[in-house]
Amino acid sequence: MNTIILGIESSCDDTSAAILKDGEILSNCTANQEAHRLYGGVVPEVASRAHQINIVPVVDMAIKQAGIQKSDLSAIAFTRGPGLIGSLIVGVSFAKSMALSLGIPLVEVNHMQAHILAHFAENPKPKFPFLCLTVSGGHTQIVLVRDYFDMQLLGETIDDAAGEAFDKTGKLLGLDYPAGPLIDRYAQQGRPVFDFPEPRIPDLNFSFSGLKTSILYFLKKQLAADPNFIQEHLADICASVQDRIVSILMNKLKKAAEQTGVTEVAIAGGVSANSGLRQALRQTGEQLGWTTYIPRFEYCTDNAAMIAVTGYHKYLQGEFAEQDAHPVARYALMR
Ligand code: KG4
Ligand code: ZN
Repeated sequence: MNTIILGIESSCDDTSAAILKDGEILSNCTANQEAHRLYGGVVPEVASRAHQINIVPVVDMAIKQAGIQKSDLSAIAFTRGPGLIGSLIVGVSFAKSMALSLGIPLVEVNHMQAHILAHFAENPKPKFPFLCLTVSGGHTQIVLVRDYFDMQLLGETIDDAAGEAFDKTGKLLGLDYPAGPLIDRYAQQGRPVFDFPEPRIPDLNFSFSGLKTSILYFLKKQLAADPNFIQEHLADICASVQDRIVSILMNKLKKAAEQTGVTEVAIAGGVSANSGLRQALRQTGEQLGWTTYIPRFEYCTDNAAMIAVTGYHKYLQGEFAEQDAHPVARYALMR
């Protein structure tokens, strides 16, 4: 008999549903929320209401695109956390009611584990143990992945996440939210001629708040001398900021590989869509003899395919959630 999983993701501002059949993605549908652009960041109340509007059509579309019936489903996997509570509650409540009405089991998924396990939606799949640099709007982590659900957090950010560093820089430059993809695009037309300092943070932890401050002071100084500095040098500023964020990430990843002796290395999360980071991982991999894993763009930013894949492996292990499962805003990688 086939194992068919419906995955549901609603932790932040993307409503997503995916269907996975025996480990293979049949559909992965996402509704993005444009409303937050107006506010320069995700507004939790707006996100929650948009999930309520989007969830039924998105799940419907995922089922139709996969060419299956609701009655074919074996289980429903949902994001339990971490994330915005008002956003999570929509996906959790929907998953619970649908599972109850179909009489099928529920599987709860940790969003950060799912970003990593998104690699198992594709071929070739990483071999255990592997290192994963997970970089998103809310997290920056280096994880040693020994098995599907045996992960060790080796380092993480002590302040802003890498995605936040992109988005906050974008705000200083007058770019729309989320600025990461825009900075990436401008950076490709510029050169990293401005030097921003690399923070001195011990171990495998990260810090990005100092970078944001140094960019702020740099811009203030330049704008005092030339009010059009940003317009005239946008591509070079973006290339310089991106170059520094990527070098901070790659230096720690190299250190983690050195310390653990692991040569299977992956990146995950929204910032893994960044062209500079993807290229740096490829190049470093070639230099140091790593086998590298770079996700397809649709599996970088928030998506339900990663929730369905993670749910599938939990389903195979017989790990099910109860109807009283509730969302959790703060959810450690392992607990
Ligand atoms: O994983 P994700 O979709 O949501 C969270 O769980 O946070 O990541 C969103 C983050 C945003 O900060 C966005 O600016 C960043 O990923 N991002 C990028 C790129 N695409 C998305 N950052 C840099 N370059 C990109 N191409
Ligand atoms: Zn995410």
